[in-house]
Amino acid sequence: MAQPPERATSVAQLKEAAASCQACDLWANATQTVFGEGAEHARLMLVGEQPGDQEDLQGKPFVGPAGQLLERALDEALIDRRRVYVTNAVKHFRWTRRGKRRLHEKPNAGQVRACRPWLEAEIEVVKPRLIVLLGATAAQAVMGPAFRVSKQHGEVLPSPLGIAVVATVHPSSILRATDDESRAAAMSSFIADLRVAAKHL
Ligand code: URA
Repeated sequence: MAQPPERATSVAQLKEAAASCQACDLWANATQTVFGEGAEHARLMLVGEQPGDQEDLQGKPFVGPAGQLLERALDEALIDRRRVYVTNAVKHFRWTRRGKRRLHEKPNAGQVRACRPWLEAEIEVVKPRLIVLLGATAAQAVMGPAFRVSKQHGEVLPSPLGIAVVATVHPSSILRATDDESRAAAMSSFIADLRVAAKHL
């Protein structure tokens, strides 16, 4: 069973080792491990939940609809995506079949726990100054199960990792908004949280 190599010095080394990870059951139904990517020594790391359908097929984080929305929000917050490192709390796609579609399913606590050594190893190599936690899964993976994004988003907080974090919503939640008005409000709040992160760098 793959584990992060002890003294990894590059993301490439970690990515190679994670490709054969079977630390939880998710590898069996996923196309591939979707490891983090971006600037190797980025000051800002973004952590999402898990790869979606497109990410699973392409092998890259945040390349589907949520990724496109994230890119727009980063632009608005004057954060250059090429200068950040983007990853997920869980690195395999969890899904169930509905007809021809593969529907996203939230990873469970055991799956998040099994994947945590990879996130810790990425943080060790990248050494970001600040981590943005996108949504409840990432936020609780780092801050603990009692953490509430709705109450503590947009604040620079100390974390058990010894690195400051800013929690915010997951971009998919904005895509799921039921009307234009609530979508626009959610997007503004997301951009405001990202601006807090940009200011801290
Ligand atoms: N949602 C995530 O949390 N991560 C991705 O990479 C894509 C969608």
